[in-house]
Amino acid sequence: MQHYDFDTLADRSVDHARKWDSGIVHSKFPQVREDFIPLWIADMDFQAAPEIRTALAEMANNGAYGYTYSTDRWYNSVINWQKTRHHAHVEKDWITLGYGTVPNMHVLIQAMLAPGDSVLLNTPVYGPFAYAAEHNDRGVITVPLLKHGLRYDLDWAKLEDVMATQHPKMTFFCNPHNPSGRIWTAAELERMAALCLKYHVLLVSDEVHSEHIMTGTFTSALELPAKYLDNLVMFTSPNKGFNLGGLKLSYSIIPNAELRAAFRKRYAANSVTSPNVPGQIAMTVAYESCGDWLNQCEAYIRENLRITQAAIDAEFPGWELMEMDSSYLPWVNVAESGHDMHTIAKTMAESAGVVVGIGDDYVANAENFLRLNLGTSHAVIEEAMTRMAQTWRKMQ
Ligand SMILES: Cc1ncc(COP(=O)(O)O)c(C=O)c1O
Repeated sequence: MQHYDFDTLADRSVDHARKWDSGIVHSKFPQVREDFIPLWIADMDFQAAPEIRTALAEMANNGAYGYTYSTDRWYNSVINWQKTRHHAHVEKDWITLGYGTVPNMHVLIQAMLAPGDSVLLNTPVYGPFAYAAEHNDRGVITVPLLKHGLRYDLDWAKLEDVMATQHPKMTFFCNPHNPSGRIWTAAELERMAALCLKYHVLLVSDEVHSEHIMTGTFTSALELPAKYLDNLVMFTSPNKGFNLGGLKLSYSIIPNAELRAAFRKRYAANSVTSPNVPGQIAMTVAYESCGDWLNQCEAYIRENLRITQAAIDAEFPGWELMEMDSSYLPWVNVAESGHDMHTIAKTMAESAGVVVGIGDDYVANAENFLRLNLGTSHAVIEEAMTRMAQTWRKMQ
């Protein structure tokens, strides 16, 4: 089996990465150290799989970038990936190519929600879940997750109460959960699906973080018993797994024909037509040929998580790393650290030169959290932890 290199990082100035852009980082932290290490925006610094790079280079050198269409090869790559990787049965008709999971959320809201309708969110959660409703003048109802030690749980009683009394029309369910990486079990997923069916809430499962599993087993909502599938929309993409976010493609899987037609009508209303050429090629090759690369990437991130966990245990009294079942984005509780998250983030940027994510970005109930990004080399993570530990000692 080929051994892939994750120690050699891509030059992120070539793709104008927001994460590494000095102007963008200075706008957040004006006094940031010039040699900063960015552990914030959720993309990875690894070069994409060689199979993807070769396919994109062939396309680039061929020199034709005209209008294309969703190919059968692409549909088959999605169907096979969902089957082999996630044990999910998908039919070709159910799939619609889209231009990003967040744009898909916006389109779905436009298609399904009338003025006055609301989306239910379990918080904290990825900020754009709320923007999708707010940008469309629809409501957001939040139910805080319950923090039990190092894991979040769903608040079943509150969820049922809110569904029964406030009548949200839809829920964006983050499966696995961003920001904590929590994988919901098959039983939890089914309980959620049953509640949604009972109270006529459309279940929208966002599965973009399902590709990097640190521990446990991911269950796709597509594996739910058949009676729930008519009330399900699944959104995903290879963007987190294979680091293709800038290619701006994703897809939806909607088993219910009526729902699917309403969703597609809304796409048509905005005259969104053919996919982008590199995006489709990259996604197809990722799903067809890059499973081994993903496995090795996952193992590499697991080692980064081990380094981070060891550093936090040894050097950061008062910091608590939430148990991360999936993703490459540790969620760190600093409530007992003696400093608030803004002070820590600012001091880390200025003194350690490490830029971290702050709880503010995650729709409520994240007042004392920082988020890190392990999608980089062991050497960078070790350097970041060393610098942060020195700064933390000075903050005590
Ligand atoms: C929960 C969640 N959904 C969706 C996205 C974006 O997905 P995509 O690249 O498919 O648009 C992100 C990116 O960070 C995310 O964390």
